[in-house]
Amino acid sequence: MITPIQTLLNGSYLLQEVTVSGWVRTFRSNRFIALNDGSTLQNLQCVVDFEAMEESELKRITTGAAIRVQGTLVESQGRGQTVEVQVKTMEILGDADPETYPIQPKKHSMEFLREQAHLRVRTNTFGAVMRVRSALAFAVHQYFTSRGFYYFHAPIITGSDAEGAGEMFRVTTLDPKAPPLDDAGEVNFKEDFFGKETNLTVSGQLEAEAYAMALGKVYTFGPTFRAENSNTSRHLAEFWMIEPEMAFYDLDANMDLAEDFIQEVIRYILEHCQEDLAFLDKRYADEEKSKPQAERSEMGLLDKLRFVTDQPFKRVTYTEAIDILRNSKPNKKKKFQYPIEAWGADLQSEHERYLVEKHFGCPVILFNYPAEIKAFYMRLNEDGKTVRAMDILFPGIGEIVGGSQREERLEVLREKMERLGVEEKELWWYLDLRRFGTAVHSGFGLGFERLVQFATGMGNIRDVIPFPRTPQNAEF
Ligand code: 4AD
Ligand code: MG
Repeated sequence: MITPIQTLLNGSYLLQEVTVSGWVRTFRSNRFIALNDGSTLQNLQCVVDFEAMEESELKRITTGAAIRVQGTLVESQGRGQTVEVQVKTMEILGDADPETYPIQPKKHSMEFLREQAHLRVRTNTFGAVMRVRSALAFAVHQYFTSRGFYYFHAPIITGSDAEGAGEMFRVTTLDPKAPPLDDAGEVNFKEDFFGKETNLTVSGQLEAEAYAMALGKVYTFGPTFRAENSNTSRHLAEFWMIEPEMAFYDLDANMDLAEDFIQEVIRYILEHCQEDLAFLDKRYADEEKSKPQAERSEMGLLDKLRFVTDQPFKRVTYTEAIDILRNSKPNKKKKFQYPIEAWGADLQSEHERYLVEKHFGCPVILFNYPAEIKAFYMRLNEDGKTVRAMDILFPGIGEIVGGSQREERLEVLREKMERLGVEEKELWWYLDLRRFGTAVHSGFGLGFERLVQFATGMGNIRDVIPFPRTPQNAEF
């Protein structure tokens, strides 16, 4: 039987014979192997009797090699660990040539590690991040399923542009060199695989609405795709989104849910990922130290997480936010790249960060945005110019959630679609939801990687997803 290192380290197998497999992190004094098997951040010290071993065997115990050891788990004599294995037999499962193995026991840059995305998870940092990511994903499912939501699988290939932003990746089997043409000389998608133009989905929301209007409360948790050419530390071309959709919820109930949801999943990792978070907290502090004073965060990572779980988010209307921004110092001193002049301006991340980090100093829910800057499906307010939209803004991240109450009135929705050039014949089924048994309903989308970024304190979103896809980058 192979026992995970995590189990051995809690002492339950003391003085017993154990078998452990893992990858060598370091080997020092021809005697002490630090072995890691991924089950935990901690390494298991394995002590070999070098006099009993062949020289040629010893040479093969190098950083990165996969080995299996068998021996007795004893209390450790040395400092730094409570238990260790006195090795009786050792087997090299797979060598790692020290001349060419890229992950050596030293500090590597994040840029270098991105080029080694298949191996970077063998470092402490990426191991910790990916274990926290896994725990967060579990917490998401637990949160919703324990509250009467059904997990709904939205299609990945779709004919509709849910956000109307036109940032989609086309899915086609047509020959790019010689596509079939119609009479007008345009590409004839009738001859394509699905008989129409299709794309990778930007959001499962529209389909989730159909399911919410029968199952009551549903959520999606799957990959979404955006062909926006954004080379930022917060954008991916392929990212995972969680989209709950609830029949009979208005915007207030939607905001309550979103806030509670984020707080709960963060509480979950605070409780279940203590070791990894303690490591990431220290790493975060080191990173902050290397920044100029003015850019340093006053709070540590764990402080930031507790700060989010321990107090309500600030709720502010778009109109209030514009007033704050218009009268803000950076606006008056022309420090914003996009100055805020009039009501109706779209908020850029510099504005969102000012509100969250400088003005309020806590997570903020902005709601009731101008209809003009939001998607077609959002519920129009009685004032005729704002919609029941809400964005949740987080320190260091900016927008983490985007959501709204949906327009449930057929005629209002049709008018809006016509004005924005969203074709009725493409979304006839979506309009059907307003024709048959329509009701107030709401939902939101949370970018999973932005949540993981916040939870782990990683500066770049590319470092919280195993194999990031960004413009000019899909190597792995
Ligand atoms: O605000 P967005 O575009 O909203 C929607 O897609 C709605 N259909 C959601 C809904 O109401 N069901 O995206 C939602 C969230 C954003 O707040 C952000 O966290 C994340 O998805 N997101 C991205 N994350 C990483 N890379 C990108 N390119 C992202 N674009 C959006
Ligand atoms: Mg948004």
